[in-house]
Amino acid sequence: MSHHGDGIAEICTHHRDEPSALIEILHDVQARFGHVSDEAAREIAARLNITRADIHGVRSFYHDFTTVPTEPVRIKLCRAEACQAVGSEQLATALEARGIETETVYCLGNCALGPAAMIQQRLIGRASVDSLERARAEALDD
Ligand code: FES
Repeated sequence: MSHHGDGIAEICTHHRDEPSALIEILHDVQARFGHVSDEAAREIAARLNITRADIHGVRSFYHDFTTVPTEPVRIKLCRAEACQAVGSEQLATALEARGIETETVYCLGNCALGPAAMIQQRLIGRASVDSLERARAEALDD
């Protein structure tokens, strides 16, 4: 039994294990689990009596299927004293107004270049809404 439990079986059964329903099945799996793992692909192939290459073909053709769960890009924003003094609070508010959540941290060791932020492992000094939006877009592209 896979870590998807009976979810894959249920979705396949719903589509009567029809190979012609492969795309719909992949969409359902993606919607339920957030991705189509290799394990899920194996299970679907077995149920539909098709090859994994068939699934791989469809999966790579449709870019909206991801093979690994997508992690949201988190922005860590320093709200410690030195960064507060150069506007980290206002920056957080401005980001929130654009629907961008930040995670508060206290000192990223970049106090001389505040407001300091971190996206994934990248340290960003003199952070602004623009520079953070750009860095976030780049992180999403990776
Ligand atoms: S106070 Fe913000 S990086 Fe040190």
